[in-house]
Amino acid sequence: MPKPIYILNGPNLNLLGLRQPEVYGKATLEEVAEGCASLAAELGQTIRFHQSNHEGQIIDWIQQARSEGAGIVINPAAYTHTSIAILDALNAFDGPVLEVHISNIHRREAFRHQSYVSRRADGVIAGFGTDGYLLALRRMATLLGQR
Ligand code: DQA
Repeated sequence: MPKPIYILNGPNLNLLGLRQPEVYGKATLEEVAEGCASLAAELGQTIRFHQSNHEGQIIDWIQQARSEGAGIVINPAAYTHTSIAILDALNAFDGPVLEVHISNIHRREAFRHQSYVSRRADGVIAGFGTDGYLLALRRMATLLGQR
């Protein structure tokens, strides 16, 4: 059985579909998780889909992925712009890392233009709405197939 792809979501993404739908769209995180699970099945992959509002919990999942995960797709939400600790945890992970943002962070406030996670990510998707998760998953399957 191949190791699962970890799909990790940071703070406030539990409110997806409710919070600023003009920026983040109407789909809920549960719907995103369902879409990812069915695409993963098509791709012959499995996923572990998590969300937390707590930085330490996200770091614990990244550390767990060191032994249990094949790759990490991460939308660190606001921690993207602040968390050296998440960057350090990702740097201790050997597999592919893809960074996803639902909105185009480069078109938004200047404080969103900086991403610590991008210093580690093998690829970044921003501004494709929640489709970004599916695109990242397809790319992850390709990267894992090349290893
Ligand atoms: C986000 C962009 C971040 O700047 C923001 O803090 C989020 C979500 C996105 O998916 O567009 O919470 O990561």
